[in-house]
Amino acid sequence: MNAAAPEGGQRRLRAGVIGLGWAGQQHVAAYAADPAVDLVALSAMEEHLLERFGTEHDVPGRYRDWTQMIAEAELDVVSIATPTFLHEPMAIHALGAGVHVLTEKPMAQTGEAAARMVAAAQQAGRVLDVSFNHRQRGDVTALKDVVDSGVLGKLYYAKTGWIRRQGIPGLGTWFTKAESSGGGALMDIGIHMLDMALHLLGEPAVTAASASTHAEFGPLGRGGSGFGVSQVEEGAPFEVEDLATAFLRLDGGGTLLLESSWAQWIPHDLCYVTLYGADGGATIEWGGDPAHPHQEITVWTEVAGMPAELQPVVGEDGHHAAAVASFLQHVASGDAAAHDGSLALRRARVLDACYASAKAGTEVSVAH
Ligand SMILES: NC(=O)c1ccc[n+]([C@@H]2O[C@H](COP(=O)([O-])OP(=O)(O)OC[C@H]3O[C@@H](n4cnc5c(N)ncnc54)[C@H](O)[C@@H]3O)[C@@H](O)[C@H]2O)c1
Repeated sequence: MNAAAPEGGQRRLRAGVIGLGWAGQQHVAAYAADPAVDLVALSAMEEHLLERFGTEHDVPGRYRDWTQMIAEAELDVVSIATPTFLHEPMAIHALGAGVHVLTEKPMAQTGEAAARMVAAAQQAGRVLDVSFNHRQRGDVTALKDVVDSGVLGKLYYAKTGWIRRQGIPGLGTWFTKAESSGGGALMDIGIHMLDMALHLLGEPAVTAASASTHAEFGPLGRGGSGFGVSQVEEGAPFEVEDLATAFLRLDGGGTLLLESSWAQWIPHDLCYVTLYGADGGATIEWGGDPAHPHQEITVWTEVAGMPAELQPVVGEDGHHAAAVASFLQHVASGDAAAHDGSLALRRARVLDACYASAKAGTEVSVAH
């Protein structure tokens, strides 16, 4: 870590980004736009991306070797936006060098790996955050305000999903190899919906999962998208699921249904979270026909004894910029213990239980 550590946010933080695919580029843009940050180093395998983003944002440090970057660049904070199997070794190494870490989702391929990352953050006394950028959407923050107002009453049931018509990222890349990704649609996009739903529900513990996984498109070479295809290996196997469903039991008796697919016979892609409470229900939904995409937020409740349908006003979407800003606030707070990756670890353990349940064909308890 930079020897002159910031006191009370006086000095600009020195930031680095590892990985310059779509995700890494969002982190680069967020740091570059933040006047409290100096983006001083980038690391990636692609020379042309190092050159392009290094030049565009005047970044002096450009490294093919990320360990060299950590050793030389005197970073305060680093974002890790590399294939999922690299999150654990990169985060543990950076934390050990005294650098605060924001890693991309999913945190790691397994809960065990995620737990080792949390232990490293606790030992180093540094912040470990995971980029759950979708919870920074304007409709999600509006719905969270609705929930927190108490208008829905006790929440006891929720449904969430991200389903794609034809959206397998890079058939034949690390995304579709089990060892590198840890899983398919559930690990890649289901995790965002799980995060949003648990966040909106007030962080109930998930106690058990009953899940199923399917691979009907990928193994036949169907359902691919143009996205994430930069590192395709010819003949690479499709080893993960392209559809997953889960029934999750929540502490306190509630239930959450989760579905995610990379490819499925549906008219168009769709994302949604629907909450059911004792005094009201609410839904957010986005996606639809690409020619006419929609974004909806609706609350059903009673006002003055009459059934009422409300459409809350939605603010700006925050996305990655807000996820990076939230990470930087956690760093500035000086309270690393409150931001040690434990929340993301709980999500990783839910996914572990889902995959174990799908394999065993029975309900599985979630480890805590
Ligand atoms: N939060 C989101 O909305 C979102 C969206 C897409 C991807 N992601 C996540 O971000 C991560 C990366 O996804 P992507 O789509 O950008 O992947 P990608 O394959 O397009 O890019 C990966 C990047 O990592 C770099 N990299 C790989 N090995 C490296 C190494 N040893 N040293 C330095 N750099 C290395 C590559 O050079 C490349 O620049 C994944 O974990 C993915 O799940 C998150």
